[in-house]
Amino acid sequence: MKVILTKTYEEGAQKGAEIILAALKNKPDLLLGLATGETPLGIYKRLIEAYKAGEADFSRARTVNLDEYVGCREEDSYRKFMFDNLFDHINLAHDSITIAGHKADPGAEVSRLRGFFERNTVDLQLLGIGPNGHIGFNEPGEALEALVHVTPLAEATVQANARWFADGAVPTQAITMGMGDILRARSILIMIKGESKRGVLRELLHKTTVTTQNPATFLHLHPDVTLIAEESLT
Ligand code: PGA
Repeated sequence: MKVILTKTYEEGAQKGAEIILAALKNKPDLLLGLATGETPLGIYKRLIEAYKAGEADFSRARTVNLDEYVGCREEDSYRKFMFDNLFDHINLAHDSITIAGHKADPGAEVSRLRGFFERNTVDLQLLGIGPNGHIGFNEPGEALEALVHVTPLAEATVQANARWFADGAVPTQAITMGMGDILRARSILIMIKGESKRGVLRELLHKTTVTTQNPATFLHLHPDVTLIAEESLT
């Protein structure tokens, strides 16, 4: 695992964006795996800036999102998050975007997305991490699922996500890429932001053991992972 420690979040977001932009330059039709949440926002801001400055062309790129809430309102969906924070501001073709449907039948979505990952390999997967070590919504437990699946969200995740829901109606179920789908990406970029991630970050940095109780530790099994975090969290 290649580790990049930065003084500030902003500096880390800049480095993350540079990695994505370099991958895009190298392979204009790359399949980019994307994440939602607070962590990638600084990266997305810089991707938009690069596009507006004429330094990035997303016209041949494709994207797939890690996860989506099941049965949530349109305004709470990760689909809307992605359009608001990235897709509406760059020249990515809308038919090149893959995200689970938040209103669609979850079983049908699992089949559709499992088919997608049978046919496609993610070139670069961007990840955040939950305070409990989840990547995507692969929550800690006795076992982890390899393929796309529907999952209840861990209590810790529901609590962490509550900040996005003023009315307290936090979704409790999601559809997510499985651990195998994530680990089959050609390369992985994980960014870790926030005090609540200190414990899982330290476990990742200071141990090489793999445990289903901290799903991010499975990244130790992948040959090409870059981790970006603030120095102060280590
Ligand atoms: P956050 O979420 O970026 O909003 O902290 C990350 C995650 O839960 O995976």
